[in-house]
Amino acid sequence: MTHIRIDAAIGPALKNFSLPENLGFGSVMSPIMASCTYENGKWGELELIPYGPISMFPNAKVLHYAQEIFEGMKAYRVGGLGPFIFRPDENHLRFNRSAERMAMPHIPIELFMKACFEVTAYSSDFVPRRSGESLYLRPFMFATEEALGIKPSEKFRFMVIASPSGSYFSAGGLSVLIERHGARAFPGGTGYAKAGGNYAASLLAAIKTKQLGLVQTLWLDGRDKKYIEEMSGMNFFAVVNGELHTPEINDTILEGITRKSIITLARDAGLKVVERKMDIDDFISDIKKGVCTEAFACGTAAIIAPIDYLAEETGERYPLLHQEGKIALQLRESLLSIQEGRAEDKYMWVSMVEPKSL
Ligand SMILES: Cc1ncc(COP(=O)(O)O)c(C=O)c1O
Repeated sequence: MTHIRIDAAIGPALKNFSLPENLGFGSVMSPIMASCTYENGKWGELELIPYGPISMFPNAKVLHYAQEIFEGMKAYRVGGLGPFIFRPDENHLRFNRSAERMAMPHIPIELFMKACFEVTAYSSDFVPRRSGESLYLRPFMFATEEALGIKPSEKFRFMVIASPSGSYFSAGGLSVLIERHGARAFPGGTGYAKAGGNYAASLLAAIKTKQLGLVQTLWLDGRDKKYIEEMSGMNFFAVVNGELHTPEINDTILEGITRKSIITLARDAGLKVVERKMDIDDFISDIKKGVCTEAFACGTAAIIAPIDYLAEETGERYPLLHQEGKIALQLRESLLSIQEGRAEDKYMWVSMVEPKSL
């Protein structure tokens, strides 16, 4: 069993915290966090400490070369059940895949789980309880070695912070810019890793998307700008000819755990799922012909968000919500009811956390 040192200041930090009425996403933080450092080829003691600023030297490698990775997962406590964490083993596997790509050490599963479970256990009173709300968990690791040489760091810090969050779901549907110019990822690059730099690279397009009055960016493959890949923080699905289609996974797409879960749920519900290369222009013609009846984005934060329309920079729009996102909403309900503990967990996706207090 991985040991965790509980800092004495945790008690007062928990006592002095109260959950605000308006949560939003990712701005209210739980008053505690987990931390562990890596040096001389091994992980040190895991600690639970009050949430607060961290110090590092200005020449820490992460600040210059972006050697940083993260994960995003949720703990649910709807109606007082749980807390339940959804598929944390998958997040652990992906964390280590990202670590390998970014020349960072693996995190042992016991350390990853202990950090996530202890933060959740002591934050149990702050997991919001209305449907769609959750405690968003953010494990991350960054390079702390103090040296400016462009070499992999030999020192790292792993942390888990948590944010009581409201529902991310927008009932009206998403408006999505087809990004025909910029690129998020290239073959052989880091697109499949959850590395901070990938998100920095998506932000300029986010500004353009917002200036055009749209909310999400849809990335095409970096080389030919021909095939649909994903959004900046969500995977992409469409209903084509009554089947569920999604871009096949390659090294430029982040393999979402929501995506993987939706594929399982859809197949079990008798829906044919096709993972394939999705040519953007063929797809637009499928929308125009009415062959494509829905599209949606999916990820831990939003779960499933139906797409209202795709748009070009020129202003041309391809509307999608003919059927009010019927399949998207059905899949959302099947998934959310498992995550929130309202439906039978027949795939063993949900881990129960025992609440703790001081
Ligand atoms: C680039 C990107 N694609 C897809 C996803 C969806 O992944 P998941 O369903 O595991 O949250 C995310 C979010 O984590 C992401 O950042």
